[in-house]
Amino acid sequence: MEEEKQKRYEALKQIWDEVFALTTSPLYEYRTKNNYFPVMGEGSHFAPIIFVGEAPGRNEAIQGRPFVGAAGKILNELLEKAGIKREDVYITNIVKDRPPENRDPLPSEIAAYSGFLDRQIMILQPKVIVGLGRYSAKYVMEKLGLMDKVESISLMHGRVYEGEAGYGKVIVVPLYHPAVAVYDPRKKSELLKDFLVLKTLV
Ligand code: URA
Repeated sequence: MEEEKQKRYEALKQIWDEVFALTTSPLYEYRTKNNYFPVMGEGSHFAPIIFVGEAPGRNEAIQGRPFVGAAGKILNELLEKAGIKREDVYITNIVKDRPPENRDPLPSEIAAYSGFLDRQIMILQPKVIVGLGRYSAKYVMEKLGLMDKVESISLMHGRVYEGEAGYGKVIVVPLYHPAVAVYDPRKKSELLKDFLVLKTLV
């Protein structure tokens, strides 16, 4: 166990070093100009669930931590209400650097960073992968062999799919992005219902 812990830590650290040094990234200049950090992810290296967000916002890029702004507050609340401890899960994003003005990630940005997410998944080997928001949901569904099941997030959210990861079968659950609940209380109650589904999976 200690050996596996060290192995995972080192493999994740290696990814962090590579992202930090990724001068060819379309977001590298924006990061360095603003003294931002890349956001790799945080949580248990033995988490049964990985949450995959889209990209860091300003607060996240300042602190180098995922989901610490307004969307993070909602995520924390949902986790708490579902009885899931934040430190027991792993939280990351597809895109590791902040896109300007919190715009949606571009296909070129997803292409530049998604390989790092793929490696994180292979290292952590979670039982459940949650795609937060339409970009992440689509990416993880496609990556895990569920491309023919991709629909709009309003149809997929809260459904439980069985995908195939490099290490074996994996449960995939698309959810609304917590940021949508900041201004829409109806989405928040849908998210809560979906989080209660998650709780039954672990
Ligand atoms: N939104 C995301 O998708 N990821 C974060 O880390 C923060 C906000």
